[in-house]
Amino acid sequence: MRHLLEIDDLTPDEMATVLSMAKATLDQPVRPLDGLGMALVFEKPSARTRNSMEMAVVQLGGHPMYIQGSEVGLDVRESVEDVTRTLACYHALIGARVFKHSFVERMAAVNAVPIVNMLSDESHPLQALADLLSIDQIFGGLAGKHIAYVGDANNVTRSLALAAGMAGMTMSVGAPGGYQFGDADLDRIRATGLELRVDDRPEEAVEGADVVYTDVWTSMGQEEETEVRKRAFEGFAVTSELMGRANPDAVFLHCLPAHRGEEVTSEVVDAPSSRVWHQAENRMHAARGLMAWLCDVNGGTDAEGS
Ligand code: CP
Ligand code: NVA
Repeated sequence: MRHLLEIDDLTPDEMATVLSMAKATLDQPVRPLDGLGMALVFEKPSARTRNSMEMAVVQLGGHPMYIQGSEVGLDVRESVEDVTRTLACYHALIGARVFKHSFVERMAAVNAVPIVNMLSDESHPLQALADLLSIDQIFGGLAGKHIAYVGDANNVTRSLALAAGMAGMTMSVGAPGGYQFGDADLDRIRATGLELRVDDRPEEAVEGADVVYTDVWTSMGQEEETEVRKRAFEGFAVTSELMGRANPDAVFLHCLPAHRGEEVTSEVVDAPSSRVWHQAENRMHAARGLMAWLCDVNGGTDAEGS
């Protein structure tokens, strides 16, 4: 059974197919989830992921069911495995947004229905799919394009870097010491073939960039570190001046939510070169493509207990 826990669960060809399906299903709807459900379990808040996933399930003919993490109580009320077995009695697919990446791994290990990681402390593969879809649409291709990520090397950055390598792009990450990728991440990312530049000077990182990307300095679950992180990331905000050092036709992307005045100025978010709303809309198209592909590759879907 195929799941999506991290973007490199797909081969580069499969990722390209998912992106093609995201586009194709816009004009030619498919309904592999007709009469079926998808459970969407959220241990953390969400605007884009919940709404894009719910609407993608509707577009595929299915019924999305939003479930707060506290309601099922992963490893609190019941084990992660038993929650998964229960939800698989009613639903053809399960999506989960969790604190611990190991929770989505344990859900997938039950092997009852395909699991989609809707963000964990380690990865955000649905975001990476939408990011690549956006860059492809903006530039008419992915290979050879350069992404500069300025900020915390976090879950979003990791999935984006893996996806960029799989698509033949290049990337630089500008982050202060202590907030860069660790060695295990670097090995996994470079295994995709990604040409990766690592820098602690944002000005150097954005040189030659087609895309300048950032995310919050403090991710969900790290709130206690907020003040320490604000100090560590001083000088790493994406400003109009920093954008001016990238390529002349460079665009700005952000997974959102944006903390205007922290990692990015309002001027950059609202500038003509910002494509953040296009990117947010693409979350739905990418999710639809991914789930249509998962239904196909898993030989159709069928809710069954195990
Ligand atoms: N980008 C993203 O995942 O947004 P939400 O946290 O609002 O879902
Ligand atoms: N890195 C952020 C992404 C939010 C979509 C977080 O995990 O909170």
